[in-house]
Amino acid sequence: MNNFDIIAPIYDFLAKLVFGKALIHSQTYFLSQVKAGSQILIIGGGTGKVLDYFNSLSSPLSIVYVEKSARMLDLAKKRGPFVNMEIRYVHGDERSVPPDKYDVIFTAFFLDVFIEKHLVGVIRLLNGSLKKNGKWLVTDFVNTPIFWQKWLVRLMYWFFKTTTNLESNTLLDFDIFLIHSGLKRISYKGFYFNMMQSAVYEKTDRIALFEES
Ligand SMILES: C[S@@+](CC[C@H](N)C(=O)[O-])C[C@H]1O[C@@H](n2cnc3c(N)ncnc32)[C@H](O)[C@@H]1O
Repeated sequence: MNNFDIIAPIYDFLAKLVFGKALIHSQTYFLSQVKAGSQILIIGGGTGKVLDYFNSLSSPLSIVYVEKSARMLDLAKKRGPFVNMEIRYVHGDERSVPPDKYDVIFTAFFLDVFIEKHLVGVIRLLNGSLKKNGKWLVTDFVNTPIFWQKWLVRLMYWFFKTTTNLESNTLLDFDIFLIHSGLKRISYKGFYFNMMQSAVYEKTDRIALFEES
């Protein structure tokens, strides 16, 4: 399930072909919220293109980069060199996240790969790694009532199901899951005719509404 190895070498090319620069613009929009000295978890970062944008903040940052696809991770490791960023690369999934507390969690087009049951577990685990008042920068697709966008989303799920054995085939409403896990959305911006959303969530003291399973 969710094996992006096959498409890793062409992922960025395809993404740009379909969405132009919207994928990278959307996920980097809130990077200015990242403070110097932050301990950051990037999970499902793919080929690591976003690392160049973190680097352009020119702030000292400590990054843990967790990626399930070995080929994606290899591509990410080839980026750089980065002067201000100390990066620890981890080949694995949400269960492989080193047990630290992070100031920032960064996920882009990552939550959309999971079925609901798995998504709830992923969010619970990652939220547990976030410091109090820590920020979770989330960028992903959102469901809209617009006909061509619905079809584009369907087409994407079909494509990724075929090429990566994607576990999910439906776009879920991530906002509800994140808020139910005790996070508060503090900023939001829509991209690409509003079918992508980039948002900043903050960890609050509120108790999660999801039951432990
Ligand atoms: C749709 S791609 C997005 C890549 C990148 N964030 C971007 O925006 O270009 C999803 C990425 O999540 C990775 N992935 C899927 N399931 C994962 C998991 N459970 N833990 C870590 N990475 C995972 C895939 O290997 C893939 O690189």
